[in-house]
Amino acid sequence: MNDKSIDSVLQEQRVFRPAAAFTAAARIKPADYARLAAEAARDHEGYWARLARELLAWHQPFSVVLDASQAPNYRWFTDGTLNASVNCLDVHLATRGDKTAIVFESEPGEVRRLSYRELAAAVGQLANALLAQGIHSGDRVVIYMPMVPEAVVAMLACARIGAVHSVVFGGFSAKSLRDRIEDAGARMVITADGGRRAGKLVDLKGATDEALAGACATLEKVIVFRNAGNEVTMQAGRDLWWDEAIAGQSAQCAPVFVNAEHPLFLLYTSGSTGKPKGIQHATAGFLLGARFTSEWAFDLRDSDVFWCTADVGWVTGHTYVAYGPLAAGATIVMYEGAPVHPDAGRFWSICERHGVTIFYTAPTAIRTLMKFGDVIPAKFDLSKIRLLGTVGEPINPEAWVWYHKHIGRERCPIVDTWWQTETGASMITPLPGAVATKPGSCTLPLPGIDAAVVDEDGVEITDPERGGYLVVRRPWPSMLRTIWGDNARYLATYWAKFDGRYYVAGDTARRDADGYFWVMGRADDVLKVSGHRLGTAEVESAFVAHPRVAETAVVGRPHEIKGEAICAFVVLKGQRPTGAEAEQLATELREWVSRELGAIARPDEVRFADNLPKTRSGKIMRRLLRAVARGEEITQDVSTLENPAIVEQLRGKD
Ligand code: WTA
Repeated sequence: MNDKSIDSVLQEQRVFRPAAAFTAAARIKPADYARLAAEAARDHEGYWARLARELLAWHQPFSVVLDASQAPNYRWFTDGTLNASVNCLDVHLATRGDKTAIVFESEPGEVRRLSYRELAAAVGQLANALLAQGIHSGDRVVIYMPMVPEAVVAMLACARIGAVHSVVFGGFSAKSLRDRIEDAGARMVITADGGRRAGKLVDLKGATDEALAGACATLEKVIVFRNAGNEVTMQAGRDLWWDEAIAGQSAQCAPVFVNAEHPLFLLYTSGSTGKPKGIQHATAGFLLGARFTSEWAFDLRDSDVFWCTADVGWVTGHTYVAYGPLAAGATIVMYEGAPVHPDAGRFWSICERHGVTIFYTAPTAIRTLMKFGDVIPAKFDLSKIRLLGTVGEPINPEAWVWYHKHIGRERCPIVDTWWQTETGASMITPLPGAVATKPGSCTLPLPGIDAAVVDEDGVEITDPERGGYLVVRRPWPSMLRTIWGDNARYLATYWAKFDGRYYVAGDTARRDADGYFWVMGRADDVLKVSGHRLGTAEVESAFVAHPRVAETAVVGRPHEIKGEAICAFVVLKGQRPTGAEAEQLATELREWVSRELGAIARPDEVRFADNLPKTRSGKIMRRLLRAVARGEEITQDVSTLENPAIVEQLRGKD
């Protein structure tokens, strides 16, 4: 027994090598990868400086690469100036002005295309409108929009004039919106009348009004984009329609060149406790991370149609819907709607009709679609897809294999990209032409990213059977700079554990004999059974390996002898069983998991559900499940759950 590390129980031996044809054409081939890794190891700062010079368009070139004088508040390229919107738009106009930047599809099926020239003009007009409304460099603007191209236009218009955007996911409540507006001290909200999801209207303007009522002292103006056509109340002097705001404004807006460290955006992420943290990102470092990872990890090139299904309200939407692919000059797909609307074929139909070549989604979406079976994707022509990606949670090996077989048709590499709101861009991820993949592993850190697994004392763990804390030992350009308005919390959350030496991601992981990383779950969720510390991901993956299981979440609850007992919430591929059938299947599953992982990981309790409680970004709410398993009062805010009614079912009260 070793209480400084975590025991690994998962055995996953499958290896998928990149196809020779893919490697031959890849941006990063095995030899490039070796050269880049060696360059970064030899000269960390020189490597990042070279990439920053080659991949970003600077107004004033930088001479300082890394300023560590206030570590761990690291700063990069500190004396350079640039503009993020110039890097995403102006640089493309001469060579690909007429190329489609955005293909948009609404839930009812309307399709719109914007070329780079049209996108640049829309951004210029809105930027001029923001200036006319008195918004200036450094002001905070909250964007509370549906997944329409105008959400990206609004982000880039802020960047154009140096305003700091803070996108709030359109599914969040008025209260969440209010908290974020107040914390950011925003002067403006850009929203829409409404959004559309699963055939229903999302009343964004109504929620904005509710958020602002008697609150948000810094807020002066609201710009409202006409999207869903629902009735709204406009408050005179405060609210104006988007089309009125841009009327008569020039499409040309001179960019405000900002310092490399100027905040590009704040993005709020909920911590495990307390109020949401405003993660602050810097212009140059973020943009560099977004661009190079888009090109390398997704092998992105001019001919690609890239669909990242994330909402712009999450970091994945910032990095891989907006900034990364646009800086790379790619064509992106945006879809405003639910993945299963009108049926579970919607994603595949969009891929087929728009010729998607790179498809990037979350494990939660993959497991949901997997639940609907193989017959649906088989009806679609997915032959244009050449690469798949996943992000957001550990992907269970069986879901990975399903994705590989039924979506990638055993032809496409899968990039499992580990990263966080805080890291700004992908960190541990296979380079698809150079690194063999293993289902469930995010493989190896990108060149220049010094990730490691350490024990409670900060000592690196090299034993492949043991896991520990996932840390990053050297600063990297796209790292968060601070938590907005609370640097003490930044230091305490990410740096204090190992005395400021390492960035602490809050995840647990292990490295196998090939040095591959396997994320085991959040450090807060570690189970402690009979003195063994187990990560949630491994136990869950063993469940998902059972042919009848679609999805599961495991949590611990106190046990007199074992310390903690494992309680599993299970969603089956078919109907939820009840009575004797449920009992029999629960026994079978407990046996199954104990055979897969060893008796130590045998769950004490299995409960079946139609669904699992998830955050709006699709992460399973294990904290809430822990309260359910322990029979405690639910203290979490369940109002933002996708399906709040599920809580009653999980508690056995439906
Ligand atoms: C988890 C999303 C395993 C992890 C970009 C991390 C993952 C948190 C992976 C960040 C992955 C993300 N494998 N776990 N490929 N990607 N995670 O801030 O726990 O929404 O710390 O950023 O998601 O979530 P966030």
